[in-house]
Amino acid sequence: MNAIEESNKLSEHSECSAESGGETENERRKLSDTAPGAAAEPASEPIVRYSKVTKRFGELEVIKGIDLTLNAGEKLALIGPSGSGKTTLGRMLMTLERPSGGVITVDGEPLWHRRDRKGRMAPANEKHLRRMREKIGMVFQHFNLFPHLTVLGNVTLAPVTVLKLGKEEARARAVDMLRKVGLESKLDAYPSQLSGGQKQRVAIARALVMQPKVVVFDEVTSALDPELVGEVLEVIREIAAEGETAMMLITHEMDFAREIADRVVFGAEGRIVEEGPPEELFGSPKSERLRAFLNRFL
Ligand SMILES: Nc1ncnc2c1ncn2[C@@H]1O[C@H](COP(=O)(O)OP(=O)(O)OP(=O)(O)O)[C@@H](O)[C@H]1O
Ligand SMILES: [Mg+2]
Repeated sequence: MNAIEESNKLSEHSECSAESGGETENERRKLSDTAPGAAAEPASEPIVRYSKVTKRFGELEVIKGIDLTLNAGEKLALIGPSGSGKTTLGRMLMTLERPSGGVITVDGEPLWHRRDRKGRMAPANEKHLRRMREKIGMVFQHFNLFPHLTVLGNVTLAPVTVLKLGKEEARARAVDMLRKVGLESKLDAYPSQLSGGQKQRVAIARALVMQPKVVVFDEVTSALDPELVGEVLEVIREIAAEGETAMMLITHEMDFAREIADRVVFGAEGRIVEEGPPEELFGSPKSERLRAFLNRFL
């Protein structure tokens, strides 16, 4: 209970400081604010905010101090060379990898932290993480469906166990979602009976049925046969067009990123090298590094 109350407090404070500019909020701003130089806040608090986030695996620092925001409904494409840290950045948002430093907030609340009794940041407990996970959808390269559950079972599981929806309501929501991804005829099939593209569409339905604030898609088409890529991109395209859910799309599909993203972030070696609207990033890249990277896709 304490963790939740404290987190709620934090959330109120960060909203408050976002609106008022909050000179008396200095200490709290340290937790939840972005880059120190950021002058004006957007009208609403971003759905996701990475502040000075770092990640080390042993001696190896793979994320080297990232400041990044994702606004409500925004579609952000994350591109960059292999090993640059894209998956690691996504996994920290998916609560699968704890940051070594910095703060990530989701919907105004610190994801990995809570306030301790003295008002200092302390690591969040599992209960807090569980609650925060409801806001974050995840779609992986290898689908990660439950093999022993049907398509419908996969999509109703979290609504029933996490959101505590009644069976009928969960089913109605799931069927609705599966219709959106074109799989209403496969409700009773098992994952082993589906094509890769169909499996991935189930995985997308499973993420979206929770009505998350943000969905992370990590290379969701790269394990698919080329002829199945299109159907999955089409589903993502349709969901993106509905506009409600913020998306972090980690992808090597440059044309798709260009078409769908509101903003593109190019990272290399654990840092953001360039970011901006797709036409700018792809049309007139500023850094030599991005130019060299894009040349490989021509
Ligand atoms: N669990 C881990 N233990 C040790 N090192 C790791 C771990 N996970 C990732 N790394 C290292 O962190 C760096 C970034 O990896 P990451 O998977 O985030 O890159 P990426 O940008 O997603 O690459 P790709 O485009 O190939 O998917 C790499 O050097 C990788 O070897
Ligand atoms: Mg990766």
